[in-house]
Amino acid sequence: MTEATNEPEVLRLNDVYVQFVNKVGTTKAVNGVSFTLRRGHILGVVGESGSGKSVTALSIMRLVPFPGQISRGAIHFDGTDLLQKSDDQMRRIRGNRISLVPQDPVTGLNPTVTIGQQLIEGITAHMKLGKKEVRDLCLAALRRVGLPDAENIMARYAFQLSGGQAQRVLIAMAMALNPAVLIADEPTSALDSTVQAQILGEIRRLRDTLGTSVVLITHDMGVIAQTADEVAVMYGGTIVEYGSVRDVFRRPTHPYTYALLQTLPRLDRPVQHLQAIPGMPPDMVNLPEQCAFLPRCPKARNECRLQFRPPLAIADGEDQHAVACYNPMIQV
Ligand SMILES: Nc1ncnc2c1ncn2[C@@H]1O[C@H](COP(=O)(O)OP(=O)(O)OP(=O)(O)O)[C@@H](O)[C@H]1O
Ligand SMILES: [Mg+2]
Repeated sequence: MTEATNEPEVLRLNDVYVQFVNKVGTTKAVNGVSFTLRRGHILGVVGESGSGKSVTALSIMRLVPFPGQISRGAIHFDGTDLLQKSDDQMRRIRGNRISLVPQDPVTGLNPTVTIGQQLIEGITAHMKLGKKEVRDLCLAALRRVGLPDAENIMARYAFQLSGGQAQRVLIAMAMALNPAVLIADEPTSALDSTVQAQILGEIRRLRDTLGTSVVLITHDMGVIAQTADEVAVMYGGTIVEYGSVRDVFRRPTHPYTYALLQTLPRLDRPVQHLQAIPGMPPDMVNLPEQCAFLPRCPKARNECRLQFRPPLAIADGEDQHAVACYNPMIQV
């Protein structure tokens, strides 16, 4: 794990809000997300379904689909705000400097051309290389993600791939151009554990050899523990806890993080203690002004009911470990 925190800052989200306005109301998908990603660091983003992980990723790429809009905030990359860039400037950044492995492999691939054509086009759009060099780059990228029959994969169409193969093709595509920032949205969800371990190893290798910064989205705390340097825990479209993986796993401080870690199987605890967190996730259309975890929180008290959502704050004397809670599990 990378220990140094003085690496230069590569990506910084400042109070980003994203909403979807439609007939049924406004879905408040992302509500004030801020984080800093440093060079050569892997930030794990974890949270249950609907907590705003994918929309946060799409906002960095400026690919939030209609009718979604980024309504507030700034996304600094290389010293400039991506939200101020033209579409043309964004096209040059996407894939090349910041690349995304989308959550859904089906929508990530073009059904009408072969995998090889897609990979080659993706690379030649950003790099001036000879035909053979591009082809070799594609083959190497596919082999690195555990697809040894790369020649054969290149000749196929998306529908001729299994879900796991499609997912790995997308990972290979995202990695092929050596982006400064790789955003991987549930990159191993369709893969068995051996292939998952290989992909996570490949992500760490990129970080170690090229200094790639990674945003790794998952709902699996085990994946975070194995791979990430820092972790952001999302709930109701905001980050409720942030810190180094070591600190957050050692001292989970938000009651939601604490509950999430209780759901992990552990060797020192009998299996019957494994449980889901009771209660329902928040309605993102009628999101309360108070803490969104309030109805499920075992530590809720009057203060939580009477006040606005608590801000994510770092306590005195702490290094980066921050929590958004009026009554944390342990005072940070
Ligand atoms: N295209 C869309 N139109 C309307 N609402 C959307 C759209 N995409 C996402 N949302 C809403 O935004 C909120 C956040 O969704 P998001 O996809 O970011 O969740 P997630 O944390 O990635 O969940 P999962 O773990 O299931 O992938 C949800 O309430 C979702 O319903
Ligand atoms: Mg998602």
